[in-house]
Amino acid sequence: MQKVLIVHAHPEPTSVTSQLAEIASETLKAQGHEVMRSDLYGMGWKAVFDGRDFPVRANQERLSFIDESGHAFAKGLQTPDVEEEQRKILAADAVILVFPLWWFSMPAIMKGWIDRVWAFGLAYGFEGAGNTYRYGEGGFAGKRAMLGVSVGGPAQDYSARGINGPLDQLLFPITHGTLFFPGMQVLPTFAVYGAGSIDAEGMAAAEAAWRSRVERLFDDAPLAFRPQNGGDYPDRHVLADHVAPHLSGLVAHIDHEPAEKKKAAEAAFPVQREEELSP
Ligand SMILES: Cc1cc2nc3c(=O)[nH]c(=O)nc-3n(C[C@H](O)[C@H](O)[C@H](O)COP(=O)(O)O)c2cc1C
Repeated sequence: MQKVLIVHAHPEPTSVTSQLAEIASETLKAQGHEVMRSDLYGMGWKAVFDGRDFPVRANQERLSFIDESGHAFAKGLQTPDVEEEQRKILAADAVILVFPLWWFSMPAIMKGWIDRVWAFGLAYGFEGAGNTYRYGEGGFAGKRAMLGVSVGGPAQDYSARGINGPLDQLLFPITHGTLFFPGMQVLPTFAVYGAGSIDAEGMAAAEAAWRSRVERLFDDAPLAFRPQNGGDYPDRHVLADHVAPHLSGLVAHIDHEPAEKKKAAEAAFPVQREEELSP
């Protein structure tokens, strides 16, 4: 049995988004998992990150969000709503974020959940070590994450050469920058396209596909984002010249070489260990 946190951002229970959240919850419970929920609209979640997040300030003169976040997190001075969400995430083995695509991203209430809950010292600046632990390591290491997204536009608009750009690239700041950064292993995004005008048949197909994705939450392979400390970024900033030399931009940070191909290459050309070379 695992623990899963489902965070969802839609005030309307009959929306596609709320249905996806409900289906995920039912599916996980049926598998025997423990489900925690954060229904952001239902909770009246405070979306804006502001001075009220720091009732006891480290510095009265000037509001530095990073300094105050680190101070409040380290000293147990965070607001109770933020503490409660961190408690849920830290208890969870996986987190599922379910939201409608609004202006090619998540709704403000969910962005505000991230801004406020991803504290300095936890999700970034982990253990006071600057950027030592990020992208694959950090405060949320060992957890899985997945997005379930309700998308108004048709799938063609989000295809490889579609007018909006591929959904995976549009959501890269969330999958890579927000979830993988503090250490989560991120599964491929699940999307329901044409969600604004979906009929019963379309919803039934979406439901079946989503159920099977949720059932495989702990089995499916995560996206092959390159870890900061795995050797591909020798200076922790930029990809080494020999890594994917033909790629730049977002796609370069995904290891496109299939694991099987690597294994086959290693089997064909075994790497000799130093001890094997010594007489
Ligand atoms: C503020 C707002 C922004 C939106 N932005 C987008 C968008 O960027 N791309 C898109 O395909 N649909 C967009 N839509 C349409 C929603 O994605 C669509 O209404 C939603 O997925 C329907 O699902 P729901 O029943 O969960 O609300 C937007 C809708 C709203 C209200």
